[in-house]
Amino acid sequence: MICPERARRRALLFAGLVCCGLPLFLLGTSSDNDQPPVRVSSEVAWTHETVQLASRGDAFRGSLIGRQCGHCHGSEGFSSEPAIPNLAGVDRLSTWKQLQDFHSGKRGSPVMQPIASMLTAQDAADLSAYFSMLSTFPDPQDNRVFPQPMADPGKSRAAEKLIVFGDGSRGLPPCQACHGPVGYLKGAPSLATQNARYLLSQLQHFSDGTRSNDINVVMRSIAKQLSAEEKTAISEYYGAGRGPSAGEAHPALP
Ligand code: HEC
Ligand code: HEC
Repeated sequence: MICPERARRRALLFAGLVCCGLPLFLLGTSSDNDQPPVRVSSEVAWTHETVQLASRGDAFRGSLIGRQCGHCHGSEGFSSEPAIPNLAGVDRLSTWKQLQDFHSGKRGSPVMQPIASMLTAQDAADLSAYFSMLSTFPDPQDNRVFPQPMADPGKSRAAEKLIVFGDGSRGLPPCQACHGPVGYLKGAPSLATQNARYLLSQLQHFSDGTRSNDINVVMRSIAKQLSAEEKTAISEYYGAGRGPSAGEAHPALP
């Protein structure tokens, strides 16, 4: 037989467990079941401190660390391999963010992740300062005309329409509102000095989600709305150095 005192203590203990344990149990289950795991696009947030760090690198130190990059990105920051991006003249914040994202794994690349994992945030700032200062004109030995004319004027016009006006019916803002020359969103590179095949690959990666390091899903939502033809036309347009930010020095479109 259980004595009444023990029974009373047991009842109290049970009540205690129910009162304290049940809410904790419920809390635990609700946070496990109701909320999907949060996936942050990038560990970079453009706070005042981050902008200061990313924009105040030492270009000379960057030029020394950057020797190892020339092998693939070109000694003057212009890559001769279309799958590898040009880094010459690219805005510091943009290069810095990409290096941080490769470092944290938020942007995947079997080639760049191991390289970026060896770099500190300061190394990345120094490299970004160095590459941002390189001329956006390719090697003077390169005797192709820069910018290259586009073979298909129809394609060229289709691209320019999206770059300059966007498409209100699909809620597409103009590319130049964030990529220049009209406006720059922090971390958005100028596209007019990038090579076409690389641009196309990035638009494809944003639209199929294999690249997902864009803060607030900005580029994934835009790229998903572009048709394959539009992606190609815009990439060729910018890749031909004919983007609006290529400047007045270049001949106007037909
Ligand atoms: C072995 C070749 C190789 C080397 C060496 C290399 N890179 Fe890269 N880099 C690549 C490739 C390939 C990509 C494109 C990755 C992708 O497809 O997403 C890339 C992409 C990048 C990007 C992204 C650019 C953009 O427009 O989004 C940056 C920034 C970059 N590299 C910086 C560097 C720096 C700085 C170094 C030297 C410390 C370096 N890379 C060394 C091959 C290389
Ligand atoms: C609302 C601002 C915004 C608009 C509009 C916009 N972009 Fe972007 N774009 C960005 C940002 C920000 C990034 C950098 C993403 C990151 O942090 O990786 C980017 C990156 C890119 C890249 C990758 C470049 C590289 O070097 O890796 C391409 C290509 C691109 N955008 C193409 C376009 C095109 C084409 C359009 C128009 C159809 C467009 N963007 C419109 C903000 C924008």
